[in-house]
Amino acid sequence: MESKPIVPVRTGSGNCAEASPSFSSSNLRKSPSIAPTPIKMHADSRREYARPMSSGDGVNAHATDPAVVAQQAAAIAAAWSPPGAPMSWWLTAAQFASLRDDRELLAIAAEIAPDRLPALLFSAAATSLVLKLSPHPLRDCFPHPGVPQPPIAADFRPQYRAFCLDHREQLAELCATHRYQMNEVGRCADLLPALAPAIAEGREIALVDIGTGAGLALHLDRYRYKFHGPGDSEATVGPEDGEVVIETEVRGSRPAPVAPALPRIAHRVGIDVEPLDLNDPSVRAWLAACIPQEIGAVTRFHHAVEVAIANPARTVRGDALEVLPGVLAGIEEGPLLCLIDTYVNVFFTTEDLTRFRAVLDEFTAQRDLDWISIDPLVPLGGAANRTVLDLPAPTALVERNRREGLFGVIGRIQYRANKQSGALLGIAHPGAAWLEWIQT
Ligand SMILES: C[S@@+](CC[C@H](N)C(=O)[O-])C[C@H]1O[C@@H](n2cnc3c(N)ncnc32)[C@H](O)[C@@H]1O
Repeated sequence: MESKPIVPVRTGSGNCAEASPSFSSSNLRKSPSIAPTPIKMHADSRREYARPMSSGDGVNAHATDPAVVAQQAAAIAAAWSPPGAPMSWWLTAAQFASLRDDRELLAIAAEIAPDRLPALLFSAAATSLVLKLSPHPLRDCFPHPGVPQPPIAADFRPQYRAFCLDHREQLAELCATHRYQMNEVGRCADLLPALAPAIAEGREIALVDIGTGAGLALHLDRYRYKFHGPGDSEATVGPEDGEVVIETEVRGSRPAPVAPALPRIAHRVGIDVEPLDLNDPSVRAWLAACIPQEIGAVTRFHHAVEVAIANPARTVRGDALEVLPGVLAGIEEGPLLCLIDTYVNVFFTTEDLTRFRAVLDEFTAQRDLDWISIDPLVPLGGAANRTVLDLPAPTALVERNRREGLFGVIGRIQYRANKQSGALLGIAHPGAAWLEWIQT
């Protein structure tokens, strides 16, 4: 794989650095469960990495404390392979568990600065090398789009470890020159019910995707959606011959308001500080390596890339705070403006969020607009207590976030005739494995 230069982004901006790993719904309902990978660090690991490794002269030799990398890897393995997770997640869990438990692998990953997410970046780099070099028999453990997930290989971990150590220089090079970047097309299943009122208004839509990455969400009207639940109910919408099929489990007691038809999109534009050009094979390869190696996620991504390449959409490079007013002003009158942000505004500072809302307040004095956000509660971490839309988060939701770990909060502000109304709609797994509608 060619090395791509790292393009600097504003500090605090989400560079596709997932606050939490994604978890696809594909096969969720049909695969047998795997026993969860133990998430506690091994006693040896705890001893070994309780303090930063030292170069021997008292100076920390690593950019990140290996103990922190081990904790990240443990948390990711646990999140991607919780109790009851389908078998197809064994490989992702095993990759992160291998890193978590191995001093030499951790030492490689610990060369990555903390804000560049060492555990995720290391695993993406290792995956990209496996996919590129096709080592035998290790490659056979990794999925191919459209083919069932390879079964658990008992000797995966020693094979993977040996491969990583044999290629430590290439791994280090990839980690030094790339960023962890993930574009999860499954999140369109969380956007669709939030677009229901806009669809019901019967107007065409002008879709503006902030932090669009490779632009996969810009084609949300070209995918097929299957909502399973609550209970035995099912809702399906989208083209029957759609290659991209996004399946989501609807949890709780309320059905998600799925409109009978997809929105009619008259105009689509993405904004990103670093838009990703899918026509560049090295970009595609890197993005594919950042997707968790679970067959549903891999297949969905693969087809979504084909859709995006076949239907080029306009992308504006720039900081949303700077370029959004011009982008919005440039969209012709008529269609209803729908602004979407999935896992983007969560990385804004409090001041940026205030500025962002001020931009929209000013613009919507003249034009109607829906802003749909799917972002974890902010500020990220244990103190999270509000939404990026500045809607009050009920105490139960705040506590649930603390207890269960990170999920996306689906929220919407509707700006109509210079009045605004906000609603907290639901919560969703970061990779669209499930969603729960909470709006009454
Ligand atoms: C976590 S990724 C999410 C990508 C995509 N929305 C998704 O959900 O799959 C965050 C994206 O936002 C972009 N981004 C971060 N800060 C931004 C900003 N201030 N303006 C525009 N894009 C930004 C990053 O480059 C990255 O592509």
